[in-house]
Amino acid sequence: MNDIQILIVDYGSQYTLVIGRTLRELGVRSIILPPKKINAWLKNNTPKAVILSGSNFSVHSSEAPELSSSLDLSGKKYLILGICYGMQILAHKLGGKVERPLRHREYGPVIVKPETKHPLFRGVKEKTHVWASHGDTVTSLPKGFKAIAKSNGVAAMADKNNRILGIQFHPEVVDTKEGKKILQNFVSLSGCKKDWDPINLIYEIQKEILEIVNNARNIQKVILGVSGGVDSTTLAKVLSPVLGDRLICVAIDTGAFRKNELAELKRNVGRAIGKKQLKNLVVVQAGEEFIKNIKTTIDGEKKRAKFRMIYKKIFEEQIAKHKAGFIVQGTLATDIIESGKAGKSAMIKTHHNIGLSWKIHDLHPFRNLFKYEVRELAKALQLPSAISLRNPFPGPGLFLRIVGTPVSKENIELVREADETVNNILKKHNLLKNISQLVVALLGIDSVGVKGDERVYGHSLAVRAVQTVDFMTAKGYYFSEEVMNEITNALTKHKNIVRVFFDITPKPPATTEFE
Ligand code: XMP
Repeated sequence: MNDIQILIVDYGSQYTLVIGRTLRELGVRSIILPPKKINAWLKNNTPKAVILSGSNFSVHSSEAPELSSSLDLSGKKYLILGICYGMQILAHKLGGKVERPLRHREYGPVIVKPETKHPLFRGVKEKTHVWASHGDTVTSLPKGFKAIAKSNGVAAMADKNNRILGIQFHPEVVDTKEGKKILQNFVSLSGCKKDWDPINLIYEIQKEILEIVNNARNIQKVILGVSGGVDSTTLAKVLSPVLGDRLICVAIDTGAFRKNELAELKRNVGRAIGKKQLKNLVVVQAGEEFIKNIKTTIDGEKKRAKFRMIYKKIFEEQIAKHKAGFIVQGTLATDIIESGKAGKSAMIKTHHNIGLSWKIHDLHPFRNLFKYEVRELAKALQLPSAISLRNPFPGPGLFLRIVGTPVSKENIELVREADETVNNILKKHNLLKNISQLVVALLGIDSVGVKGDERVYGHSLAVRAVQTVDFMTAKGYYFSEEVMNEITNALTKHKNIVRVFFDITPKPPATTEFE
């Protein structure tokens, strides 16, 4: 599969994701990473261009994010574009001067005069409306650089080879009228090819997997772990036409599914591989085994470790049973990053299916994709929106939603019912479309309540809804008072629930799930 062509270094600007989305609209794949992950990523990848995002910091602040040490500033390896703070940190590091003179501050709409002969501003008007937000300004350019656009001060700069570029305003924001044209010019300058075309990507994945599988000595079966979610369902749809009967879809009923989830899983896999091929879907009933092993474990990471062990064991049994030569999973770039498998990135939590070592070849055809990209593939494959837009759900399921208290069948049933109740209320209020994921969890906080004039000592539930594009960051969703009251009333009808907490903590510092 094509490598990622543009690396976006995220210095914390609220518009960084918009840069990635605009590039995708221009047909180019990019990856957004925080500064601390850059060195490790650049060790294994060579992009055609690097974009340095904006930031809330001044380059003079002691907390200002640094330019990563492995970033090549010669312009030889890749084209570089600094946006706002990105331009300031480039100027600062390369010997220019960044200051905060009052008359140079620009917040909101600004008129910029670009050098329209410069390739970055080809086709842009001589006076163009842009959106800016900066207190600091580059007041003296680094040696060898020239200003290629002006407003109150330097609005854009370039080195003599046009390989290191800086823009003081935000081309990614819609209020910059010709911003997309400027980014398109940047893409052309970088030599990036249009590679973000879902149909092409599907063909490439099919070709890649078929080549690997056909290179094996004998014809061997390929096992695909399916959960009914968008990633594995889309992967089944991608692979089924090229692998046919060699593709065995394996689903594990962990005993920690939500209401009606197994039926939905079967329906979704049927849509992906065709009803006739459903004979190649194996559902392993393993609820008892999971619960028996996990029930005394309260620590989230230990719970995940036990889940992983059983998950792996079941897949190994299936591999042996079908004499499979390959195991394929719908792992995404985000999963790999957050499991600490991308270079030196910190381990946030052990995802159930990342970094498992198998005796047979394991393949991750979606390893470079983000969720929104897989959703585009699903759409291109004409999977229904119930699949392409489906909210994610963690592999270890409701086990992760019993927090600080032991897992038991009763607790699982309680969270399952609560999840169903909240989902129905949100559906009724037509709110599900606003939410990227809903988490309803049982908390190990028992407290005093009063029901029917009697003292009750009961459990607490937490309700958390988040909005996010890529699950790397998320913001808590605020329900209206009416909806919160309805949820609280419905959940406390259960005899053992006396308290409901609403959690609006963003990620970071929290994560989507509680464990
Ligand atoms: P966090 O909680 O890390 O979750 O912000 C990000 C997204 O990943 C899902 N998640 C998992 N998915 N296996 C999965 O398949 C896992 O072990 C796992 N842990 C978290 C989570 O539900 C959210 O969508």
